[in-house]
Order: sequence, then C-alpha cells, then structure tokens
Amino acid sequence: MSDKIERLNQAIRRFYEQKELSTDLVESILYSVDAGGKRIRPLIMLEVLEGFGHRLTDRDYDAAASVEMIHTGSLIHDDLPAMDNDDYRRGRLTNHKQFDEATAILAGDSLFLDPFGLIAETDYPAEVKVGLIRELSYGSGTFGMVGGQMLDIKGEGRQVDLTELAQIHAHKTGKLLAFPFVAAGIVLQLSDEAVARLREAGEAVGLAFQVRDDILDVTASFEELGKTPQKDLLAEKSTYPSLLGLEQSYAVLDKALDQASAIFKDFEETNSFQGEKVYDMIERLRLNA
Ligand code: IPE
Ligand code: IPE
Ligand code: MG
Ligand code: MG
Ligand code: MG
Repeated sequence: MSDKIERLNQAIRRFYEQKELSTDLVESILYSVDAGGKRIRPLIMLEVLEGFGHRLTDRDYDAAASVEMIHTGSLIHDDLPAMDNDDYRRGRLTNHKQFDEATAILAGDSLFLDPFGLIAETDYPAEVKVGLIRELSYGSGTFGMVGGQMLDIKGEGRQVDLTELAQIHAHKTGKLLAFPFVAAGIVLQLSDEAVARLREAGEAVGLAFQVRDDILDVTASFEELGKTPQKDLLAEKSTYPSLLGLEQSYAVLDKALDQASAIFKDFEETNSFQGEKVYDMIERLRLNA
C-alpha cells in the first residue's frame, strides 16, 4: 500500500516539476498535496484494477492521481472562509492560513484543471482517455462535486429532509468517490453493464463515505482527523447524525457498504475478479465493528 502511495505522489510531483512558471503557486499546491491524506480515491482505482488481474503501469498511477488532485483542490476550496472556514486540514494549517486566500483559490483552480491535461498526456488509447476525462469532468463539476457543494451551502441553517440530504452527499462526495470504480472499468474497457455495476458500487461507497465523515465530525478528535471536529453543528450543517442520530447513521453507513460488497461478490462469480483488497478497503470504512 505505501508503495502505491509513493508512486501516486511521484505521479503528481512529476506533473508539477515538468515546467517552471510560478514557484509560489506550485509551492501552495504541493503544500496541500504533501500534507498526506488517506489517498482513498486513487487507491480504490488501483485496487479495483488489480482485482481484475490488471498489471499497473505509470499511466494507471497518472489516472489515479487525477482524482486525488481534484479532491485536494476541493478540500482547499471547502476550507476557505467563504465556505466552511476551517483552519486545519490533514494535520496542517489550511492552505489559505499558510499562504493567503488568493493563493489558495488559485491552487484549487490549478488542481481542478491540471488533471485533465495529465490524463490527456497518458498513452492510453484515445477512447479510454476521453472516457476518463468525461467521467472526471462530470464527477467534479456542476453535476458532481461542485454542484453538491452548492447544495451543501444552501442547506446550511435550515432543516433538510433525508431525500435532500442524500442528494447533497451523493454529489458533494459521492460522485468523486464513484470515479475510481468507474475509471477502472473504463481503463479495462469493460462492458457498459459492468461499468454501470461499478458505478453503483462506487456511489454506495460515496454515500457511505460522507455519512462516515459526518459521524466522525461528532465522534473523533483533532488528532484522529487532522481537522477541527464538531464543526458541522456550529455551521448548522445538515448531516446524517443531526437528522437521524448516531445509531441510525451507523446503520446507513453499514447498509451502503454491504451494498457495495455485494456487487463485488457478484463480480467474483461472473468476471473472475479477486476481491480481497477491495473488500478490505470497504470494510475499513466501518466505524462500529
Ligand atoms: C474528506 O475527505 C472530505 C470528504 C469529501 C468527506 P477524506 O477523508 O478522503 O480526506 P483526506 O484526503 O484523507 O484528507
Ligand atoms: C466535503 O464535505 C465535501 C467536499 C467536496 C470537500 P465536508 O465539508 O464535510 O468535508 P470536511 O469535513 O471539511 O473534510
Ligand atoms: Mg463542506
Ligand atoms: Mg468542510
Ligand atoms: Mg465533514
């Protein structure tokens, strides 16, 4: 696992070291990238690829790095004073606290745009590249993460119902978490039906992931999270614990993870998929084991 993370980090570094234009911008980008983070999105893509018997090469690391770049950009912007106004992220000062707001905004902008060039420059077949770029664009933009962030902001300070909350979570977090599952299917040029099943699993894990993040905001410490806990209540955010309570939130988390595991069980039976590492990743997302 740490070898994979190392190769992912190298892929991002390679991209930013290819030219020199603004060292201030690249310093700010790499400050947030190098702060660590669990790298769950790219790792899922790599594990799903390997589960299908694929041998990983540099281009797979580039494709996996692309979603981590968008994710890191989303965190930089999510923490801005105009958004969640957070001072700590990944155990460090947030980007705008370490540098300044303009720099943080621009670092986020870069991390949203650069991955498309990174994918375009890989030596995947053209149809694979277009598929990945399309998927990453939809998962990130107006109909994905950014749209979800807008819904999240508009949900502050008022009671939303469960349907609306699921819609917020499915977009602000779910779509980018589904990307690695779908992207693996695109790289392997699986059938539309298989890609649809991967998307289903990815969206289930995506919902689970934000429910988990909401639970941890209530139950975990700064040391465990690397970010300030108890922020959602303060910001009057709509979350699963605020709407359903902790017990039922754990149940929603488990159910979504079970749903994803069941899909991979199917793949084992029908597509000679070796699921162990993917199951492990899914199981590690449970909180009440
Ligand atoms: C946190 O994501 C924000 C959400 C979308 C829930 P992660 O929990 O994956 O954060 P890092 O990448 O490990 O810092
Ligand atoms: C994050 O949701 C969703 C993003 C698109 C970044 P949160 O606002 O709950 O994430 P944290 O808790 O700040 O990491
Ligand atoms: Mg937020
Ligand atoms: Mg936040
Ligand atoms: Mg949160």
